[in-house]
Amino acid sequence: MNEVITIDGPSASGKTSVAKLVAQRLGIPYISSGLLYRAVALMCLLENVSAEEIEKRLPKHRLELQPTPTQNLVFLDGHEVSEALHSLEVDQVVSAVAVRPAIREYVNQVLRRIPPPFVVDGRDMGSTVFPQARYKFYLTATPEVRAQRRVPERGAAFDTVLSEIIRRDEADKHQSAPARDAIILDTSYLDLDGVVQRVLEHIHPLS
Ligand code: DC
Repeated sequence: MNEVITIDGPSASGKTSVAKLVAQRLGIPYISSGLLYRAVALMCLLENVSAEEIEKRLPKHRLELQPTPTQNLVFLDGHEVSEALHSLEVDQVVSAVAVRPAIREYVNQVLRRIPPPFVVDGRDMGSTVFPQARYKFYLTATPEVRAQRRVPERGAAFDTVLSEIIRRDEADKHQSAPARDAIILDTSYLDLDGVVQRVLEHIHPLS
């Protein structure tokens, strides 16, 4: 039982909710890799420095992700910061963090230390971080559908959320290409259970 299942896709494509439910159904942990980029973005905000500067300071910090059955806990220098990772302020800084190759390598190392099996969601989990993964999925949906899904989480106006999603799609596009062997699922007209069902149909029972 040494399986990695990757679920990639653009922001608000539903990948974290899908990864959580698929993992639950399979009885294995899920990992949300975006949380680690968000934690580095939070470091920038806490220290009031740029992504370039935080890259130099990374060796001074300790970043850990601990999966629990219902959520991922993120610890920065021993303090749990999970609740602070989904603000609009973090959304606005995180792309500048995620484009830096040295920061990506740092996050990838944190991820590769986590023992399988697990379901992991992100942008480049199937293409770069876990190219040997047994099952790879890539979720897509229109920007409007994704903004609609994210409005209740952010408590912000639809137009604000939509323009943030469009800006982030553009900023993240280089690390967001699907793996060549990924199964692509358009989720625009599916509800959460429908997407989970499609993913599970592709997965044989893990042994
Ligand atoms: O999935 P998310 O919205 O929580 O991701 C937050 C940011 O991190 C997003 O702007 C893109 C970046 N990210 C990335 O570049 N690579 C990943 N594997 C996961 C996230």
